[in-house]
Amino acid sequence: MTQDEAKKLVGLRAAEFVEEGMAVGLGTGTTSVQFIHALGERVRGGLKISCVASSESSHKLAASLGIPVTTLPELPELDLYIDGADEVAPGLALIKGGGGALLREKIVASAAKKFIVVADSTKIVEHLGRFPLPIEVIQMAMPLVVRKLAAIGLEGKLRHTKEGNIRMTDEGNYILDCACGEIPDPERLAAQIRSIVGVVEHGLFLNMAAFALIAGEDGVRELHP
Ligand code: 5RP
Repeated sequence: MTQDEAKKLVGLRAAEFVEEGMAVGLGTGTTSVQFIHALGERVRGGLKISCVASSESSHKLAASLGIPVTTLPELPELDLYIDGADEVAPGLALIKGGGGALLREKIVASAAKKFIVVADSTKIVEHLGRFPLPIEVIQMAMPLVVRKLAAIGLEGKLRHTKEGNIRMTDEGNYILDCACGEIPDPERLAAQIRSIVGVVEHGLFLNMAAFALIAGEDGVRELHP
């Protein structure tokens, strides 16, 4: 099975967790795109739901598929949030933000009663840190934050678009991608990063996911913390 096939399979499976009348948070990224497409099929089949997306791109996609989608202030309490991850470690410690939506993703995940991670098996790791940790930063604080991250051993690289422009998040901030190497204590690192003024959010999602759906050669399995 290719990675794309695995993403499609897990997206389809995730859509089965959505029940009539639910308020649903839509994630961001290629796996979430598959989930949103599968959900669109169910909506066209008669499922009545309301949704909030974690990015402008997911919002637009959902709307284009006929999924009723609104904003978080309009729908602040969600039953379910379904989103991908860049790394999934034991205990369902996650790195997210590869798609640049970490801030809104964490907000929407926090608004939901249940967060289900959708991923293919290549995302499973023993320790977080192989994937560069995204950190969302207020523009004017960039030099300050870079210096403070360096003091805790993190070298942040400003994210750019394919066209070479600085990548702006949906909230108008910059992203620093930090090559960490193995993160021995994610909770400690999360607290250290959070204490830096000018950091808006980081891509460590700890103790947030209820369970993960993981697609591999043997189909889709559930992974619990
Ligand atoms: C976006 C994210 C994505 O969920 C994460 O990057 C995984 O993406 P993909 O499903 O494309 O592999 O956190 O900010």
